[in-house]
Amino acid sequence: MSFFLKLFKLLPPELAHSFSLNSLKLLHKLKILKLIYNKTYQDENIIFLGMNFKNRLGTAAGLDKNGDYIDALGELGFGFLEVGTVTPLAQSGNPKPRVFRNYKENSIINRLGFNNKGVDYLVNNLKRRNYKGILGVNIGANKHSIGDQRINDYIVCLEKVNKYADYITINISSPNTPNLRDLHNRENLTLLIDAIDKSIKDLNIIKPIFLKISPDESDKTIINIITHIENSSLSGIIATNTTIDKSMLVNEKIKSIDGGLSGEPIMNKSTQRLSFIKSKSKDIPLIGVGGVLSKEDFNEKINAGASLVQIYTGFILKGPNLITEVLNN
Ligand SMILES: Cc1cc2nc3c(=O)[nH]c(=O)nc-3n(C[C@H](O)[C@H](O)[C@H](O)COP(=O)(O)O)c2cc1C
Repeated sequence: MSFFLKLFKLLPPELAHSFSLNSLKLLHKLKILKLIYNKTYQDENIIFLGMNFKNRLGTAAGLDKNGDYIDALGELGFGFLEVGTVTPLAQSGNPKPRVFRNYKENSIINRLGFNNKGVDYLVNNLKRRNYKGILGVNIGANKHSIGDQRINDYIVCLEKVNKYADYITINISSPNTPNLRDLHNRENLTLLIDAIDKSIKDLNIIKPIFLKISPDESDKTIINIITHIENSSLSGIIATNTTIDKSMLVNEKIKSIDGGLSGEPIMNKSTQRLSFIKSKSKDIPLIGVGGVLSKEDFNEKINAGASLVQIYTGFILKGPNLITEVLNN
């Protein structure tokens, strides 16, 4: 294990996160990041929904919530980056501690609660970026927005980020914002998608829009989501966010922590949701995320129907070497 990964394990999770990303940013500014992470694989040329990707591996939302690290992350070899979740207003999220690493089971539990600096701050970073690759922006609702206001939050973000993003993700699946997952339900989803459709038409938005879903929904709910997407201007699905089901964990202490579980224990559940969607709709564009810690996991997501794959926990636990492992032949 590298010195940096050992040091990283000793720090509290959120400090480790900002320390490592700030280190990457510094190395990028000093122009030595490229020399350290020397690329050993060929670029591909993948066209997906009109976007041109150099490979199928990207970052998942939450890693760079405010777009502070776009240029540094972009230099590591990812085929695309997704920043956010961002909300209209800045908010501090839930009280700390709210991120828990479970090294023995290659997983993380988090209950951050959409801590972010607000959409205007993110947009400034998007405008200033030098990164030329594909960039998605993941948008959400503020904790205290309810009813129409909650739906309006998505529209406000969509309108502000659309010019500066290659694709946009509507995140209805964080388990850490009270009642957010209710948006998976038929009635709420109809209101949300109708509002998005209207905004897309009014602003003539031509960017692909994805819905990021939870792995904890029933088959019936997923089938309803597919129908909604097929009948709207939305392009596809990102499956999945974290799960609130901890039954697959062995460590009893960790099991009782509130929040969303990510990493190795969710690989099967998350990939099953992907396969299920694919079995119900052969052509729906899919991005797979959840539990990818190796090239085999990456291939499993592709075989289950994903055109692109995102990583978060695997990247935190294994560092940039995971990118090389996945992308090398
Ligand atoms: C600490 C942490 C913060 C996250 N924040 C977000 C977020 O803001 N928005 C989002 O859509 N997903 C968020 N996620 C979920 C990830 O994007 C991803 O869907 C999930 O972790 C499963 O992938 P993984 O097993 O590769 O981590 C977060 C995950 C973690 C571990």
